[in-house]
Amino acid sequence: MHSGPKSREIFERVKQFIPCGVNSNFRYWGDNENLIVKRGKGSYIWDEDGKRYVDYRLGFGPVILGHAYPEVVDRIKEALEMGNIFAMTNKYEISVAEKICNLTGVDMVRLANTGTESTMHAIRIARAYTGRNKILKFEGHYHGFNDYTLWNCYPPISGTGYRRSPILIPQGSGIPLSISNLVISLPFNDEELLEKRVKENWGDIACIIMEPLQGNTASIMPQKGFLEKVRELCDEYGIVMILDEIKTGFRIARGGAQEYFNIKADLVTYAKALGNGFPVAAIGGKRHIMSEIAPGKIALGGTYTGNVVSAAAADATLDAIAQGALEKVDAHGKKLMEGIAKVFKKYSVPHVLTGPPSMFGIVLTEKNVVKEYRDWAESDHTTYEKIIGKLFEMGVMPDKDSREPWFIAASHTDEDARFVIDAFEKAVKDVLG
Ligand SMILES: Cc1ncc(COP(=O)(O)O)c(C=O)c1O
Repeated sequence: MHSGPKSREIFERVKQFIPCGVNSNFRYWGDNENLIVKRGKGSYIWDEDGKRYVDYRLGFGPVILGHAYPEVVDRIKEALEMGNIFAMTNKYEISVAEKICNLTGVDMVRLANTGTESTMHAIRIARAYTGRNKILKFEGHYHGFNDYTLWNCYPPISGTGYRRSPILIPQGSGIPLSISNLVISLPFNDEELLEKRVKENWGDIACIIMEPLQGNTASIMPQKGFLEKVRELCDEYGIVMILDEIKTGFRIARGGAQEYFNIKADLVTYAKALGNGFPVAAIGGKRHIMSEIAPGKIALGGTYTGNVVSAAAADATLDAIAQGALEKVDAHGKKLMEGIAKVFKKYSVPHVLTGPPSMFGIVLTEKNVVKEYRDWAESDHTTYEKIIGKLFEMGVMPDKDSREPWFIAASHTDEDARFVIDAFEKAVKDVLG
């Protein structure tokens, strides 16, 4: 999996000015592997060497419609004429807030710029509302770069200990160890363990924050009844249930995971697909909690929140979603899942396909069900990476890390599906045949 000569040459230069040559650690693959992207259009991106890829990373999920999507670009151009920041409410913020509430069923919403910001705010709101400080999260769930949640996101399994009492591991250096006193981390999908820990600690727990499905671990799904169990425990013990829908929101259904799984959280965080790739995020929730956000009560805001360009991008994206864009997304995802399953069957490759069609995961494992991060951690990552390496050579780009789902956009075509399934078979044959 090598980048072309032009990408490599530029990357050498970039590394002098940007640590690792990337503006987010997750983007670093290796000095000879990272691409320099020239442009994107629809379902494709082109690198500086002129090579085209069918894009299934989609910037880690945001590009729900397609790159440079005409309706989004037009709305932004129109909006730019009015200026960008006024530190007062503008018409696009109002429109976006109404659309989010109508599509998802949250009562009220505040805009932010990034997912990290919105989960940080949601946790603060939960703490303020409950007067408690601890957060409960799950292994392999990622909630952005804030210190409170960067625990047991992608821990080495050898270090996390016994699954009934996981050891807390920070995501790298620089996160104060004292914060671990405020974090409880558990394996996903274990109702009994969750109930036990909540009963022992509820007086300290402000929120249970979770991805509704593991968008950061191969799209592992919640087992039947698990989300309902979280809801029940939060109701019983006065804990705020935060659904982090930054990957699932406006992607797996118009109303996100709340609609898909028929569950109602107290607070919900959105970003990614909300703006088709522009920096816009949101914290939504029930009125009795959200209406407590006010000066002197709960601190929440930011200079760039609701800026015209980002809000206009979200406005156009939500219109496309309301008009049925996700049906195309789902149809393409289903085709790929069926095609990939057939190839695996033909070559007798043990696997589990996880998640909804719009963001499905592939786990190479002998297990029949993949329920939690530890199941993924024990799966065959080496073979997966080799298959993805072959796909890259053929111009197909899912992420090489099998934790990342294959993200689908409304711009992916039937021709893309045929090309990709054909390439997938060649790749599997090459690696395993
Ligand atoms: C579930 C989830 N929460 C939060 C974040 C952080 O979002 P951002 O990168 O916009 O800060 C991400 C990013 O991938 C995410 O997947």
